[in-house]
Amino acid sequence: MPTDELMTIARSVALAAGSLAARRRAEGVEIAASKSSPEDVVTHADRETEALIRSMLAEARPSDGFFGEESGADVGSSGLTWVVDPIDGTVNYLYGIPHYAVSIAAVEGEPDPSTWRALAGAVVNPANDEVFTATSGGGAFLGNRRLQVTEAELSLALVATGFSYSADQRREQARILTGLISQVRDIRRMGTASLDLCAVACGRANAYFEKGLSPWDHAAGALIASEAGARVTGLGGAPANKNFLLAAPPLLAERLETTLANLYTREEKLA
Ligand code: IPD
Repeated sequence: MPTDELMTIARSVALAAGSLAARRRAEGVEIAASKSSPEDVVTHADRETEALIRSMLAEARPSDGFFGEESGADVGSSGLTWVVDPIDGTVNYLYGIPHYAVSIAAVEGEPDPSTWRALAGAVVNPANDEVFTATSGGGAFLGNRRLQVTEAELSLALVATGFSYSADQRREQARILTGLISQVRDIRRMGTASLDLCAVACGRANAYFEKGLSPWDHAAGALIASEAGARVTGLGGAPANKNFLLAAPPLLAERLETTLANLYTREEKLA
């Protein structure tokens, strides 16, 4: 199937899921359970939204696989998998901060971000109706506006990042930020990885990096950033993966990668 048809499916399913999430937000959000730590929560709306996405995708593309944050993986027979975060930015959602997203990507190959090839993706922020989309080789868009990153000096770069739900990892992330903050314009922690990647694509941040992301956090956003001209990479030339992901215009990415590589210990780079 052509990538623009996959993107059309991703966008329309994300819009329907976004309406449901926004409706549930307006009614009041309840925590259903906690996951990796007490801070890492899932709401009833996350589960309901993922169930809607799963059923809409199964109807549109019955032979494809599914890999979602809340309901796990289903292998398909087509070689294509939908990677889904029903509500990225769950903590923002919980607190009523209007900065959360539905993220849906179609990827080819195993659902492993270091080897898959993202074909199409959509990231929708239901709180402001922004719709980011991309197709592999076809560019990235905010609504109908084509996106293109622009380079920035490291010292003038606004750098977005995020933190893990694990207290140990947050300690390490805070130490890295202490080393970085005096070398850049400023830091942003906006709370939604998929939208951080879209922010790089549309110039609301110059760069984004985070350690310990899950595949559904970045599947669609990384495609949108790279189709807008960002380099999306891991540390030391490794592909972006759970261990580390950096997205920035190519020259800034190189400077930031070197700077960050000097801040992480050898063990941290591998962990
Ligand atoms: C989280 C957000 C956050 C990032 C975390 C993610 P979730 O996703 O994207 O910005 O810093 O690493 O886990 O839990 O809200 O879907």
